[in-house]
Amino acid sequence: MRTRPPSGRGPAWPSRQAKGSHHVPDRAAWRSCCAIRTDRTPPERNRTLARTALAAPSFLARPPAPYLAHRLGTRLPARPPRSRETRNPVSQTPQSAARSKEPRLVLPPPRTPCPREAPALRWGVLAPGVIAERFVEALQSRTQQRVGAVGSRDAKRARAFADRFGIPSAYGSYAEVLDDRDVDIVYVASPHSKHFDLAMQAIQAGRHVLVEKAFTRNAREAEQLIAAARERGVFLMEAMWTRFLPHIDVVRQVLESGLLGEVQTVTADMGLPAEPDPAHRLFDLGLAGGALLDLGIYPVSFASMVLGRFTSVTAIGTKTSTGVDGQTSVIVGNEFGAHGVLNTTLFARTPTTASISGSRARLEIAGRFHRPTTVRLISPDDEVLDSFVSEQIDGGLCYEAAEAARCIAAGKLESGLMPLDETLDIMRVLDTIRRDLAVTYPGE
Ligand SMILES: NC(=O)c1ccc[n+]([C@@H]2O[C@H](COP(=O)([O-])OP(=O)(O)OC[C@H]3O[C@@H](n4cnc5c(N)ncnc54)[C@H](OP(=O)(O)O)[C@@H]3O)[C@@H](O)[C@H]2O)c1
Repeated sequence: MRTRPPSGRGPAWPSRQAKGSHHVPDRAAWRSCCAIRTDRTPPERNRTLARTALAAPSFLARPPAPYLAHRLGTRLPARPPRSRETRNPVSQTPQSAARSKEPRLVLPPPRTPCPREAPALRWGVLAPGVIAERFVEALQSRTQQRVGAVGSRDAKRARAFADRFGIPSAYGSYAEVLDDRDVDIVYVASPHSKHFDLAMQAIQAGRHVLVEKAFTRNAREAEQLIAAARERGVFLMEAMWTRFLPHIDVVRQVLESGLLGEVQTVTADMGLPAEPDPAHRLFDLGLAGGALLDLGIYPVSFASMVLGRFTSVTAIGTKTSTGVDGQTSVIVGNEFGAHGVLNTTLFARTPTTASISGSRARLEIAGRFHRPTTVRLISPDDEVLDSFVSEQIDGGLCYEAAEAARCIAAGKLESGLMPLDETLDIMRVLDTIRRDLAVTYPGE
């Protein structure tokens, strides 16, 4: 592993260690360190609830929901049924006083470490297009990561990109980036059809790799990449940036705590209209375009995080005139009978929201759920019990880069937040969906 030590100290991050390895950053320090607003609404309630959440380690100590137990390997104690009134005690009779000792239904603060604190790596960028620009902007504005090289199929494009971001080395080929001894980790930002080739070359060159979503065109390619990275002993991760955002950590904690009761239904949609353009990668079957791999991956990945491995997948879809999937709706189920209802489309702007409904409460994630946004905890009576508000920032890609840097510095070959086996499961789900839609990419 060729990891450069941090080149400078980031802002201080006072934190306290909660149960086990839970990292619970101090809320005020987190705010000033990351310059991200995390206050709740309304402000008065905000302070009370934040204190309650921080002062209630029982929140984190509670057993996981049954549908998560198989993933966490936990035996579940029997939980007594709770009446409606015990959920929100209001009076102080002896009975209700006893009941009021039970944890209140509030959201915990995120445990997400500050991206600026992640050890600095030297990054090489392959295929400098739309997302590569946003990635480098995020790294430079919100982390201490260094972008040392960029490679394009065209030397002039590489030079223009390097000049714009002050990147020391610009190459007219991807191979030269992989040969650069000052590069620790490579970011693959090409169209989907090229992910496999570029990531495989990087792995064979002994570089750590972050691959844009969707990870590959299909599960067969994903399996080969994962096997190659494990054999070569390099870090590999799908750049599913949503997984690493603070509001998603709030969701994870709620799921782990069992706060929602038994999860029954997950919904998520990601529809963003795209101007039909046969020349654009989105509409190009040869580049593995279409709604599913570009946008549908977000609802599918979200449902996978919540429900675990799917035991059933059924899809319908509508193709564009170029043969890619333009709109796809999917119903998934897990072994505990919970369902996910998912949609993606290039034809319309959908709410882009997500929800998780359990027997005791539900979470609603405001659109666009895959970016920093608001999470609301809602009672079965539709009362908003608590909310977590993240500032809408463009720099959300900094969190995935920081996670990669932390893992590599710790000698890990994959991230526990986006494990490779789950990435492979998700690619298998996408394959199943495409079979239902009769969409095949050339050369598969
Ligand atoms: N995380 C996010 O929020 C997000 C957002 C958008 C996209 N993405 C993902 O990022 C990846 C790239 O998307 P993008 O919108 O950035 O793509 P893009 O701008 O259309 O293309 C990226 C780069 O790929 C190379 N390229 C373009 N067309 C090619 C072709 N026909 N054959 C080979 N290489 C080609 C070019 O680099 P050269 O200079 O080397 O030719 C181009 O600059 C996709 O996986 C997409 O799903 C992620």
